[in-house]
Amino acid sequence: MLTLNQTSLNIELDHPSQRSSEFHYVWLRDNCGCTECVHPDTLERTLVTAEIADDIAPQSADISDTELVVAWNDGHHSRYAMDWLKRHDYSHSRFQTDLAAGEIKLWGSEIQNQIPEYDYRALHDDDQQTLLNWCCDLRDYGLTIVRNAPLKEAEIERFAEFVAVVREVIYDRLHNVRATPGEYNAYNVASTTLELKPHTDMPCYNNPPGVQMFHFLANETEGGESTAVDGFKVAEQLKQQAPEAYEILTKTPVFFQMDSARGDIASGNPLLTLDTDGKLKVFRFSNQLARPSNIPAEQMEAFYAAYKKIGRLIEAPENKVQFRLETGDIMVTNNLRVMHGRNAYSGAGQRHLQLSYMDMDDVLSRIRMIKKTQVAA
Ligand code: OGA
Ligand code: ZN
Ligand code: ZN
Repeated sequence: MLTLNQTSLNIELDHPSQRSSEFHYVWLRDNCGCTECVHPDTLERTLVTAEIADDIAPQSADISDTELVVAWNDGHHSRYAMDWLKRHDYSHSRFQTDLAAGEIKLWGSEIQNQIPEYDYRALHDDDQQTLLNWCCDLRDYGLTIVRNAPLKEAEIERFAEFVAVVREVIYDRLHNVRATPGEYNAYNVASTTLELKPHTDMPCYNNPPGVQMFHFLANETEGGESTAVDGFKVAEQLKQQAPEAYEILTKTPVFFQMDSARGDIASGNPLLTLDTDGKLKVFRFSNQLARPSNIPAEQMEAFYAAYKKIGRLIEAPENKVQFRLETGDIMVTNNLRVMHGRNAYSGAGQRHLQLSYMDMDDVLSRIRMIKKTQVAA
């Protein structure tokens, strides 16, 4: 059954609710898939949405078992397969067409002995299923460990290129983290033997790198255990315990800056960035990079109360995992969600990490590409 309304049509698509599905004329016209409207080789839209007439409507419309055919009042003809309409039926729920969509799994200290672990060679040598599983764990948990990586200089850059691409920042493409006083890259406390409280890297960027990789070329010191905290879990706890504090942290900019001889990156963004559905999208936190707040005086006290609340949740033992990474291990985090840190360590014995970044979009791209080859096979 097809019903033509003023600005939309209704069609029955065998939805379990038995309610008919509504498609707006402007949406249908905009999503015509013909070769005049979509470039046949690049699949990019050539139809210009802004040029669709405001009174766009069918002159006639017909359905068969397999398709809806519309003759538009602008002279264009469109065909929509029923299967396609079912997959894009927005009037019952928000349709999901993203092959890389995952399910976020929040964690606390209980994950300590179950952090997703992979073998470096298996990631490279197995068919792409192992790499796909690893990418999906990174997406869903935001924390993984890859064991037995080669102890070679710049291996982490090659690893990034094997998975996706390196996301460069202004400081170094490859960061050496070791306690060598006076070295040019000693621009932060990471290059000392002090404790590093859980933080996300580069929150001073408006778009911080999405994936952080730590390759342990050597870890032979006393102490220096790695720590990690799920920022999304902590934010969820705050939302339950103190919704007004959560709200403040979604709205108040916190100014972060990383200033050195090599660059001066500075920006103010909320610790909690929400998406258009109000879900948490980006978590940022770095005690060491925070700079004086210049928010209006009347907001200052409430902001600090909220800021300290989340800071205390980050330090709560039930939210923190702590583990020792060995020489040859790579820890990988979703830097838009999971904080990392390390305990203080003794200067005796070598400790040398190489760090590099990727962007999460490029990892999600890898997921889609592998899934597409699996479907085609
Ligand atoms: C860093 C960092 C962790 C470590 O350099 O940003 O967090 O284990 N290092 O040294
Ligand atoms: Zn068309
Ligand atoms: Zn760091």
